[in-house]
Amino acid sequence: MPTGYTALPKVYDRWQQTYGKDFSSLILPRLLLAIRHYRIPKSTMLDLACGTGTLAVMMAKRGWKVWGIDASEGMVAESVKKLVGSDKVVKFLHQDMRQFILPSQVILTTCFFDSLNHLLTKKDLLRTFRAVHKALLPHGYFIFDVSNELCYKSLWMRTETIDHKDFTLVLKNNYNPNSHLGRSDVELSFSNGSFNNQCTETVYERYFDNEEINELLHKVGFHLLQRDDFNFTRMQKVGKIKTWWVVQK
Ligand SMILES: C[S@@+](CC[C@H](N)C(=O)[O-])C[C@H]1O[C@@H](n2cnc3c(N)ncnc32)[C@H](O)[C@@H]1O
Repeated sequence: MPTGYTALPKVYDRWQQTYGKDFSSLILPRLLLAIRHYRIPKSTMLDLACGTGTLAVMMAKRGWKVWGIDASEGMVAESVKKLVGSDKVVKFLHQDMRQFILPSQVILTTCFFDSLNHLLTKKDLLRTFRAVHKALLPHGYFIFDVSNELCYKSLWMRTETIDHKDFTLVLKNNYNPNSHLGRSDVELSFSNGSFNNQCTETVYERYFDNEEINELLHKVGFHLLQRDDFNFTRMQKVGKIKTWWVVQK
């Protein structure tokens, strides 16, 4: 299951800080609000494409029994490190979101930071929605975000350089509005030169429009509860580059 996240796990958390805070901290208030609004009982949840497990650990600290799934071995390894010395139990599984299996069903599944955009075909998105539907208890909730067209037509049309004291990350982004496919060639170089001084990898993403997502959700049997565009960063001038979805089984 190639995801393109082989070098990035080493710097992922530090990179996220460049948004002002890590993405999980930025999204958490919105998630907690939705949980309160829809009266989702605090019980079991899955964070799909959990990355380095930050959100999963935060939710476990709030009393949830959490599963985390990611297809990148490096991301799962970083997630597991977060549990060292903590009494919180999160079960991290190395699986592909298109065909994952959970030992038991959950009341809530989340999938954030454009993870679903890493699926490059409608067929794969449909497979993922089916797998989530199966993993949810009756009337369970699926809350996710996707990057919308504004994001690809602005941020994915340019090269971005992130200078951190430990490393430099250059993201050479490219988006094709006809195919809806984005490509990010990532160059990572470490300042100290102590190990793998430089790595490169490519991350691909696809923009799905609201109608496509709606159609697939409906096909699988989800009911739409909420959808709105939002901006998760403190950079308001980039506009509402993400779309927030809440659907119910
Ligand atoms: C942008 S990161 C987001 C991680 C995390 N959700 C967050 O908020 O920081 C995208 C994640 O999707 C994972 N991913 C990509 N394709 C996947 C797949 N087919 N199945 C499971 N995880 C996948 C990557 O390994 C990566 O951790």
